[in-house]
Amino acid sequence: MTLVDRVIAGTLPLVPKPIVRRVANRYIAGETTDEALQVVAGLNARGFRATLDILGEHIHSLDQSRRAIDGYLNVLEEIARRKVNSTISIKLTQLGLKLDAGACLEMARQLVRRASELNNFVRIDMEDSSCTTDTLRIYRQLRSDFSNVGVVVQAYLRRTMDDVSSLEDLKPNYRLCKGVYVEPRAISYRDMRVINRNYAMLLEKLLRNGSYVGIATHDELMVWEAMRIIRELGLPASAYEFQMLLGVEEELRDIIRAGGHNVRIYIPFGRDWYAYSVRRLRENPRLAGYVFKAIFK
Ligand code: FDA
Repeated sequence: MTLVDRVIAGTLPLVPKPIVRRVANRYIAGETTDEALQVVAGLNARGFRATLDILGEHIHSLDQSRRAIDGYLNVLEEIARRKVNSTISIKLTQLGLKLDAGACLEMARQLVRRASELNNFVRIDMEDSSCTTDTLRIYRQLRSDFSNVGVVVQAYLRRTMDDVSSLEDLKPNYRLCKGVYVEPRAISYRDMRVINRNYAMLLEKLLRNGSYVGIATHDELMVWEAMRIIRELGLPASAYEFQMLLGVEEELRDIIRAGGHNVRIYIPFGRDWYAYSVRRLRENPRLAGYVFKAIFK
């Protein structure tokens, strides 16, 4: 993370909200479910799958979590009603993980059950390392009743290889990403070369074990590694998919899709977009650098 990234991230909260909005427009699909579903329909028409994320995490009361659940239930109904191709991605802190883990499990269960009735799927995003153990535990608990739920693992965490080994019996549906939070070196790899090698090693292990993997990256080197592993293992396109964030590396995503691979776009939306964007930039100034580069490209 460079000093320039830090400076950009530090000054972004001073930028007038309408300007932040113009920049955020590229990465966030509006404030309402209707706006987000229009973006989904547009991407579907171009051959992409989607997953919807209602912005807002680290809530202060379970009432906020219940509102989030209502929002997600409505999204699930609308996906079914409009017959668009989209799953949902949830964050357990938004469902009260830090307030009451039992209540969080029950709310997650409610969503996964409704998704199952509607033939849909729920992905549990992975948050900072204070959530990892509880998130994987809740994932395991949900899997005892449902198969339409998946989880995310992060290649930058030193523990991830052990985590995926201990979940092997479930053959989880994974999303594999590098990891976006800033973590202490004691528990995470810092050197991008090591993160990349760990990413490729994890991906190969998960695919060999028969897991379906959402290969979430915009890094062409990781895409290349994934293609290499897929080819070596002789996997059909139904065994994996690529995943990218809305508005990021669109040219690469088109190239992957044109090569016959499935690609899912992660689509964040919601009224909380401003607080969310500023908080994420503060947490990880490297993101500010990406955004800055994207604006001036
Ligand atoms: P890398 O960081 O090397 O980026 C490669 C290039 O992609 C950059 O040079 C830049 O051009 C572009 N880029 C990457 N991220 C960008 C961004 N945010 N804005 C603009 N440009 C960007 N993390 C996590 O901890 N928990 C999670 O649940 C998820 N979920 C998730 C879902 C999906 C679909 C994706 C694609 C990513 C995540 N992530 C995540 C984030 C992930 O961990 C990681 O931080 C980013 O994807 C960046 O890593 P890359 O593999 O893209 O490589």
